[in-house]
Amino acid sequence: MRSERKMITAALPYANGPVHIGHLAGVYIPADVYARFQRRSGKDVAFICGSDEHGIPITIRAKKEGVTPQNIVDKYHEIIKKSFADLGISFDEYSRTTSTKHHEVSQDFFKTLYNKGKFTEEVSEQYFDEQAGEFLADRYIVGTCPNCGNDGAYGDQCEKCGTTLSPSELLNPKSMLSGNVPVLKETKNWYLPLNDYEDFLNEWIIEGHKDDWKPNVYGQVKSWLNDGLKPRAMTRDLNWGVPVPLPDAEGKVLYVWFDAPIGYISFTQEWAEKNGKNWKDYWQNENSDLIHFIGKDNIVFHCIIFPAMMKAHGEYMMPTNVPAFEFLNLENDKISTSRNWAVWAHEYVEEFPGQQDVLRYTLLASAPETKDNNFTWKDFQTKNNSELVGIFGNFINRVAVLIHKYYDGVVPQGDENAPELLEIKKAANEIENFLEHFEFRNALSSMMNLARFGNQFLQIEEPWKTIKDNPEKAANSLFIAAQIAAGLAQISEPFMPFSSEKLLKMFNISQLSWKEIESEKILIKTGHQINPAELLFSKIEDETIEFQIQKLENTKQSNKKTNLKASPMKDEIQFDDFTKIDLRTATILTAEKVEKADKLLKFTVDTGVDVRTVVSGVAESFTPEECIGKQVMILLNLAPRKIRGIESQGMLLLTTKPDGKLAFVTPDETVENGVEIG
Ligand code: MF3
Ligand code: ZN
Repeated sequence: MRSERKMITAALPYANGPVHIGHLAGVYIPADVYARFQRRSGKDVAFICGSDEHGIPITIRAKKEGVTPQNIVDKYHEIIKKSFADLGISFDEYSRTTSTKHHEVSQDFFKTLYNKGKFTEEVSEQYFDEQAGEFLADRYIVGTCPNCGNDGAYGDQCEKCGTTLSPSELLNPKSMLSGNVPVLKETKNWYLPLNDYEDFLNEWIIEGHKDDWKPNVYGQVKSWLNDGLKPRAMTRDLNWGVPVPLPDAEGKVLYVWFDAPIGYISFTQEWAEKNGKNWKDYWQNENSDLIHFIGKDNIVFHCIIFPAMMKAHGEYMMPTNVPAFEFLNLENDKISTSRNWAVWAHEYVEEFPGQQDVLRYTLLASAPETKDNNFTWKDFQTKNNSELVGIFGNFINRVAVLIHKYYDGVVPQGDENAPELLEIKKAANEIENFLEHFEFRNALSSMMNLARFGNQFLQIEEPWKTIKDNPEKAANSLFIAAQIAAGLAQISEPFMPFSSEKLLKMFNISQLSWKEIESEKILIKTGHQINPAELLFSKIEDETIEFQIQKLENTKQSNKKTNLKASPMKDEIQFDDFTKIDLRTATILTAEKVEKADKLLKFTVDTGVDVRTVVSGVAESFTPEECIGKQVMILLNLAPRKIRGIESQGMLLLTTKPDGKLAFVTPDETVENGVEIG
């Protein structure tokens, strides 16, 4: 039972940073493929998204940068919106949660629930900053982690040891606003008793969607329900967000996870108004499928909280499916915005102009559908060079070039019942089945398999040879190849819209619906004039890849530097203490390895006073040869001690470089040995 209408949403990205390949692979590109495919299948599609502009991460970012939250969201909304457009993500509407319409719609939604008595009012004690006059979100409280002793733990989590915390667990809690100790103060908020919806959720999801929802989604929901649900606050004491539309709610806003999903609805309304549609057809009609594309961290919000909100409201349909994706790693490491370990969409678009489909293709090929997956630049290069250039592009190019060479660009005569033509229908059919089940990687393979088939077909037929002795056969071969190429032009569109458009132009044909691809006997007629071959994909060189890898490596280096914390100062000493230390310049005369001690070198040094032996733990940083002749500094009057049976007389001064290797402390100009330092 499939509906004629598809309401498709993609998780609203937080407008506190740009989007990266993890977001693209795990939400936006699959969602776009799905939406494009549904449009081609003749469905009435609304593909809706926008920026999530409320919530604590945005206020924190604003505070850090010394600007207003509005400044932050204005900046990132534009960047995000542009990179989606650049990558061909075909949203029907991309709006934002700071829009007036959204504020109205989410306040209305809240009031409906309030008037129906769906909320409970609860008074709780929350930390309050008296100087700032504000209640503090968990993130705004810092203190000592009870688990690992880290002094910079937040009220919701210690980022050092990863423990989830609540503010009351922090030792020595301090407000990040003023640095003062916060006090506990009573506050009233409105809660949605999620526990009241357990039966409904069990019946609808656990009984009703056992077979058609992805196991990762189903499993997570089941475990939440097994643990039992609790009432959750739908309002917060905060000054950034949608104000709570009640008289006694000053200084309170809607919980960001209350207003954000309503964004799907308010943005649909914005779109409907502009396009003469009725938004209720998409949200409140049994003939419409609601599909949420999200990452796995969003499952609870889309399968439990938002459905409970819609159920409480009473007029909405439940989502038909919530295809949640796992995470994408980058070069075997977790993608991290704060560590800048990411490939940013807007940077890719700039650095790889005209190559959007390469990213779409490679990210789809490693989409984290059922488990976390990994993106590497090497793999990106291989997929481009051997699949897009070597198979897809190569096939298309050969077909177009040969038809021009032998037939002046006019499609020759061939067998309209050739069995090879069934491969095109088969690919279209497979893609349809896979996409209906959210199997994007398999769908992509079906497309590539058709290109592979085309290549092999040409290889076996060799029309460039048969053209001499058997021109009829050559014509037939190229007629069939032209059908396959036209088929690829048609079926590649959901995955690679830019290339599909080029192909349609090249073969001078118009876009067909999926049904037509499956039912039309042939896709390009004998006698049809095609245009000259155009380059679709080009080889990506090693230097390009090395540059990208280096760029990532550099972020690791700069993270190391900024993370390098100087150890705190030692206890104060008097000048007399200092004068006890006899520091001198000296020169290393000989250096050799110490047997069975990987870290040690044995030196003889000329101290100006005498020549003596010093053992030093520098063998991992220098070879003996590198040390000979170096001028160094020595602590001369250190009591001798035995190291590995060798008496070491004094100590050479060393420091540590950013890469962890040691460096000798030396005067910046050569001086006499034995000169005192001080
Ligand atoms: N901004 C959220 C995130 O990135 C997603 C919000 S989805 C919505 O995790 F449904 F709330 F809109
Ligand atoms: Zn900790």
